[in-house]
Amino acid sequence: MKKGKVDALLGIVFGDEGKGKVVDYFTPKYDVVARFAGGPNAGHTIIFEGKKFVLRSIPSGIFDEGKLNIIGNGCVIAPDLFMLEAKELEAAGYDLKSRLHISKRAHLILPTHRALDRAYEAAKGKNKVGTTGKGIGPTYSEKAARTGLRVGDILENFPQKYAALKARHEQILHDLDYAYDIAEEEKLWLEGVDYMRSFPLTDTDLELNQALCEGKNVLAEGAQGTLLDIDHGTYPFVSSSNTTAGGVCTGLGVAPSTIGEVFGIFKAYSTRVGSGPFPVELFDETGDKIREIGHEFGAVTGRNRRCGWVDLVALRHTIMINGVTQLIMMKSDVLDTFPTIKACIAYEKDGERITSMPYDTEGWQAVYTELPGWQTDLTGMKSESEFPQAFKDYIAFIEKEAGCPITILSVGPDREQTIVR
Ligand code: GDP
Ligand code: IMO
Ligand code: MG
Repeated sequence: MKKGKVDALLGIVFGDEGKGKVVDYFTPKYDVVARFAGGPNAGHTIIFEGKKFVLRSIPSGIFDEGKLNIIGNGCVIAPDLFMLEAKELEAAGYDLKSRLHISKRAHLILPTHRALDRAYEAAKGKNKVGTTGKGIGPTYSEKAARTGLRVGDILENFPQKYAALKARHEQILHDLDYAYDIAEEEKLWLEGVDYMRSFPLTDTDLELNQALCEGKNVLAEGAQGTLLDIDHGTYPFVSSSNTTAGGVCTGLGVAPSTIGEVFGIFKAYSTRVGSGPFPVELFDETGDKIREIGHEFGAVTGRNRRCGWVDLVALRHTIMINGVTQLIMMKSDVLDTFPTIKACIAYEKDGERITSMPYDTEGWQAVYTELPGWQTDLTGMKSESEFPQAFKDYIAFIEKEAGCPITILSVGPDREQTIVR
């Protein structure tokens, strides 16, 4: 029998590209949907049939009854937040326990990891990363330090293991002189641990490889984006996991040879939440207009997203790092009313011009090219043949500059507002 493939859908900018929407749209074509990195720092929005869901830890393939969803070993999971998220889906009529498996190797985010996240950010002052406060950095640090707790640990002697790790964290928080109170949080968290025990906690690496041997196809759902990757992002203003194509293999336990298509998803403009360099950032009314029309406020934290034009220097780089085979362009409709559209084609500093990503993008100015806007409402369009010429020209320009075809376009938040070319 022909073996199945793992296709990857990866955010290739600073996150929030619309991954949730597209994973949900793609799910009917796959047998398994798997998250391989990140945790509740993610917020993936899915809108269909008048309903809206924002998923944090649960894969976006969860709405399709016959599909297996996996939270892989590369993820970190907060039992309390997982419970709240899962119960909301159960209340909406989705039977999760029959379709969601959690890796025993995924790491647990403790309430004290979240306190540490806040403490480290406070200590950094104006150099703070602007994290989501979900304990992501401390949990992945602990994983690397080989002192973390995994999902499998909740199955045996858990109270002792938990107490020991919590005591270590309390000592660090005490040394940092950081005031915190996790009493309420902890109650819910322990309830969440019990609730998680009612789910299949499995060897998801084995399950995935078995599924591939049976000819089944897997969609790996990225979280965050390449520019937030711990190795390839704008360090230190990044998240703490490998959000890139390599992370699919380590975060799921699948071999590089199983990878098929790599979908790189981006918006027709750029956004970033949190601190760090962002050469295309607009501080004027154009930026405000993009934020307002695009509703660019964080799905997890509610913070304003910083907005700017599309950055082709960054896109060329992230397409290369991930081996992107197809591009997906989201939220083109947000630019419907702009008379001119700009695109960043190079960076400039002290008279030097570069077209590839430097070691540090801080201090580099964006060099733009201007294209005419389409000034047409795209939101009701169903096929490429309806597109105005100026929009077709924008698509062709990006494809040429990025060196990769755009095969899917999204013209609104609803599942239906998706056009395959
Ligand atoms: P993710 O983290 O990559 O899944 O993306 P988020 O859900 O954080 O952010 C994407 C936002 O854009 C959500 O509010 C979506 O509902 C919305 N969205 C997705 N695609 C489109 C689109 O084509 N047009 C518009 N206007 N909104 C979109
Ligand atoms: P999705 O999956 C956008 C950002 C945070 C911060 C940095 C580190 O919805 O695209 P962390 O809490 O991970 O330690 O924060 O990364 N960040 C995201 N930005 N979308 C996300 O996820 C993000 N997850 C983390 O704002 O700058
Ligand atoms: Mg998001």
